[in-house]
Amino acid sequence: MNRFFISTPIYYVNAKPHLGHAYTTIVADCAARFHRLFGEEVFFLTGTDEHGDKIAEAAKAAGQTPAQYADAISALFRDMWPHLGIEYTRFIRTTEKEHVRTVQAALQKVHDQGDIYFGDYGGHYCFGCERFLTEKELVDGLCPDHKTKPEYIAEKNYFFRMSRYQDRLLEHIRKNPDFIRPTQYRNEVISLLESGALEDLCISRPTSRLTWGVKLPFDENYVTYVWFDALINYITALGWPNGENFAAFWPCAQHLVAKDILKPHAVFWPTMLMALGLEPYRHLNVHGYWLVKDTKMSKSLGNVVEPRAMAQAFGVSGMRYFLLREMTFGHDASFSEESMTARFNADLANDLGNLFNRVLAMTHRYFGGVLPETAGADFSKEDSDLAGLAVAAACNWRDMFVSMRFSKGLEALWELVRALNKHVDASAPWTLFKEGKTARLSAVLHTTLAGMRKVAMLLWPVMPEAAEKMLAQLGQAFAPATADAAREMAELVMLPGGTRVETASALFPRRESLASPETATAPAKASKAKEKSLPAGAPAPAKDARAKDAPAPAEVEFADFQKLDLRLGTVLSVAPVPGADRLYIVTVDLGEDSPRQVVAGLAEFFKPDELSGRQVVVVANLKPRKLRGVMSHGMILAVRTSGGMELLTASGAVVPGSRVS
Ligand code: MSP
Repeated sequence: MNRFFISTPIYYVNAKPHLGHAYTTIVADCAARFHRLFGEEVFFLTGTDEHGDKIAEAAKAAGQTPAQYADAISALFRDMWPHLGIEYTRFIRTTEKEHVRTVQAALQKVHDQGDIYFGDYGGHYCFGCERFLTEKELVDGLCPDHKTKPEYIAEKNYFFRMSRYQDRLLEHIRKNPDFIRPTQYRNEVISLLESGALEDLCISRPTSRLTWGVKLPFDENYVTYVWFDALINYITALGWPNGENFAAFWPCAQHLVAKDILKPHAVFWPTMLMALGLEPYRHLNVHGYWLVKDTKMSKSLGNVVEPRAMAQAFGVSGMRYFLLREMTFGHDASFSEESMTARFNADLANDLGNLFNRVLAMTHRYFGGVLPETAGADFSKEDSDLAGLAVAAACNWRDMFVSMRFSKGLEALWELVRALNKHVDASAPWTLFKEGKTARLSAVLHTTLAGMRKVAMLLWPVMPEAAEKMLAQLGQAFAPATADAAREMAELVMLPGGTRVETASALFPRRESLASPETATAPAKASKAKEKSLPAGAPAPAKDARAKDAPAPAEVEFADFQKLDLRLGTVLSVAPVPGADRLYIVTVDLGEDSPRQVVAGLAEFFKPDELSGRQVVVVANLKPRKLRGVMSHGMILAVRTSGGMELLTASGAVVPGSRVS
């Protein structure tokens, strides 16, 4: 059986978890789920790094002992992960006895073979990085990451002979092009190793200065300092040296870090492993930073994004999708609520959500929600082309995900989502139904539903919760252990005849746009000039409903109100009215024998793909009339806002044709 080991950095417990920590851990979870989907045995490790000056200082500031402080913050990390859909195998803490024992065993081994020596040291110590910086690393005398002046410290300390392994490391990196990826980080490390002799690594602090650490087994007046302690966690968790997990998982170990800790992972760690007589890990995957308005997130700037709040606003699935889609792995990315809302609405509410809504509605309308047998379906070249595209998209997705290029993989998957929407538009199931072409209609829906099933399954690593719901809506039981991902790469797997699908999806309701006031008012200005010419039968051209000068409408009797037949329906298709910029021909499923055609003045405010699949309120018994030569059978209700227009809808998914009362 293939195996996969993935680790996140163990996070310092001097501050609460934020978006940056959440991102790395979500990426690790996504990679772990991706490999599980292919039937591999997975070990996913995360945890907290609890020793060192930083934590001792933070604890002091909080009036607690370091142990109390570490317990509390470590718990914040551990308790956060399940709320973000993260399922790790092991949560490690560097204060665990097992870890302390392992660090001491590793130190003793390296010491015994002469790779640790005692020497004088004077150097520029950065408290932020928890390490001595070399002269070369300083920029204008400051730490380039923390922009602080390192403290010059001179004392006797223990050193790891890192320089001894420099050539071997360089050779290993050259021979294994994807040892460190993406390439820009590999190049960075190669030039560092080529630029001169590595300095040996100072691995201790005297207990006179720091007691909150792991005692050196060969000198009780010293503790090991952060990196020699922290990096060892990756093998403690696997039970080095004799644990079964170590034998099983170390050969396929992959680490995941951001660029801030590239050097410790790309230089210190592999040389430490060499000194321990172990093979280096397989891959170091390095990602960029999440920035907020182009600035690094930091507590002092007060721009730290809180992961739980983000998940609450966009759903765990929405949040995970955004993070994986928006950041090109390896590069920095900017976070803003505006970009998050825009991506959520475009990709999830429109493309994916609407596809599910309208195809489920059509399956109910035309086949009572139960799929006919494929044997009687009239498949065409369009269906087989789409099946080919689905397989190609799935293979692209796999190739990208396996090398951590998640945003590219999702792009590949969205090509399929968009092709499925197009397939529905181009095949016009409502016309096939009207014309009684049931065998062709069955083929179109079969192919589309099979594509939707594939999309949902391949989205499981990214958004497990939503993917499982989508699969349930398609009548599909799902368990990662039994999912046959390899088959998904080879064919478009049809849903069997007799499968019952749900009526509506409503997984990704649109989010309010948080656009700035200037951009929000732009469409309102544009619409003013044209207001007068808005035809009847389209949504009422009322100004902002709050307008003070609007005369109050006359009272009506309840009996009069009851004359209106208001119904919820699902938009099946949207097409422009030739020669009328602001009108659309909208077909709406109102649960009747054939869909309604309504001409609506929505084109100024919505793109067609922002409407199809959505549920809308229709005045169903409005007298039919012709608008610009096109018959309109009803009216879609909407509200004009200062920024544009919002549609009336129900708060949850409803069966098309449901009466508003
Ligand atoms: N304790 C060390 C790591 C030891 S690993 C053996 C450490 N901890 S940390 O709490 O500072 O975490 C750094 C990691 O958090 C980054 O490498 C990255 O995974 C994540 N991130 C923190 N801020 C981030 C962003 N702004 N953007 C993306 N990831 C970020 O270093």
